[in-house]
Amino acid sequence: MILVVDFGSQTTHLIGRRIRDLGVKSELVLPQNTLASILKLKPKGIILSGGPASVYGKKALLIDKTIFNLGIPILGICYGLEVIGQVLGGKVKSGIKKEYGPTLIRLNNNYNSSNLFKNIPKKEFRVWMSHFDQVVRLPKNMINLGSTPTVRHAAFSNEKNNIFAIMFHPEVHHTQFGEQILNNFIFKISSENKEIGKDKIEEIKKNISKNIEHKKAVCALSGGIDSAVAGYLAYKVIGKKLTNFYVDTGLMRDGETEEIKNTFKKMKLPMEVIYGKKYFLKALRGITDPEKKRKAIGETFVRLFEKEAKIKGAKILIQGTIYPDVIESQGTKHSHKIKTHHNVGGLPQKHGFKIIEPLRQFYKDEVRKIAADLNFPKEIIYRHVFPGPGLAVRIIGEVTERKLEILKKADTIIVEEIKKAGLYEKIWMAFGIFAGIKTTGVTGDERKYGETIAIRAIESKDTMTADWSRLPYDVLEKIAERITTEVFEVVRVVYDITTKPPATMEWE
Ligand code: XMP
Repeated sequence: MILVVDFGSQTTHLIGRRIRDLGVKSELVLPQNTLASILKLKPKGIILSGGPASVYGKKALLIDKTIFNLGIPILGICYGLEVIGQVLGGKVKSGIKKEYGPTLIRLNNNYNSSNLFKNIPKKEFRVWMSHFDQVVRLPKNMINLGSTPTVRHAAFSNEKNNIFAIMFHPEVHHTQFGEQILNNFIFKISSENKEIGKDKIEEIKKNISKNIEHKKAVCALSGGIDSAVAGYLAYKVIGKKLTNFYVDTGLMRDGETEEIKNTFKKMKLPMEVIYGKKYFLKALRGITDPEKKRKAIGETFVRLFEKEAKIKGAKILIQGTIYPDVIESQGTKHSHKIKTHHNVGGLPQKHGFKIIEPLRQFYKDEVRKIAADLNFPKEIIYRHVFPGPGLAVRIIGEVTERKLEILKKADTIIVEEIKKAGLYEKIWMAFGIFAGIKTTGVTGDERKYGETIAIRAIESKDTMTADWSRLPYDVLEKIAERITTEVFEVVRVVYDITTKPPATMEWE
């Protein structure tokens, strides 16, 4: 197995996921438990993850130097690289320029002589970074392997002692050759062996059965793939003891509730609709802060659910929480909170449910694969991801009926045109944002002070990073033309061209 030391990066768990994808076991441990875990678990290799802190800070998380003398291969990623730099006697300093998102790494001419870069076909490629500090002086016996425009020591190693360090994140899907680099570390350097893949579906069902103990349960279907898989498998385990609810919050896309009802009918998965629009709009009145919106929605959601569940006599709530929801709502000890995803941290502390989250360890693409194995209809497998708080986090400022109506119309046009262009299944998600900025327009020779709609279309694999979609200009043109002519209140349409990081996918 490979030990992953978790310094709190948003993508630490993704390292574990990649290792699992390569058919090898991994375990996440906290820095202070590293030595004890090595003795207990006897890993073949150790990966030091990224993290949000600075290695030279007063409360910096570091690891015991003796770990480097045990003869176990070590790979430091981002903050992990800085840990290696600091602990082994190099110098780490704050950089002049931040580097978030894509950059180019240029490896040295003899890069293929490093075991970490074996079988990488070119010396310059696109990688994803997220850092501010950098190693400015290498520790003794380390050689530089490559640089980026702002980081001189972006990769270095001590090949003899099997210690490797890279500034970029090989675990994120957008880093070119990231899988090959991890592959090299795990199989070539750490000499790990592949395990046979396990049957995920059976494992999830066993887990549900163990936790439910055949009691009555309710499940919150959102219309998305995660809760559909969770609800479907729970239904397979306890049958009629499960009631699937779908809450129409009024914050859904146009026509969403009807579409969802039809899809679940096709899947023969019974579902009851709770119509809650008036409660959600009331709870959101006057709120502009995104985190407060999420909390208000989470609270309303649970109270509605509690009421309905009580009628059914169920005390267990099944949710389709997946790992990125957990990590972005601060799921590990040293990671930072990005947002309170409403099916995790947005739920009020006090509620009357025992919560079961059978997919908590999985990523979206893994859940899609499970859904395909379960023969789910295509429209639900490829349906674009939609956030629990719905359009409330796509309306900047207070949520009102008027803004909802404007956004729904614009959003429908965006999705329609993307579908028409045959691009819908190629992109992760595409949607409109009510930017909340009034600007001046001119229509029919008249001045019109109207609303701004932003288009966001992105590509991602596992939610943790994203690139903006290079939508063809004619598709963008058509969308802008239709929105400004069909949605009366809008005078301006803009396209969001930010990657994640530094931006998140949703605007709030
Ligand atoms: P961000 O904006 O964090 O989005 O890059 C990552 C993914 O999570 C979805 N998202 C949410 N899902 N509750 C949810 O259930 C939330 O509060 C929430 N916020 C974002 C988002 O749509 C994207 O797929």
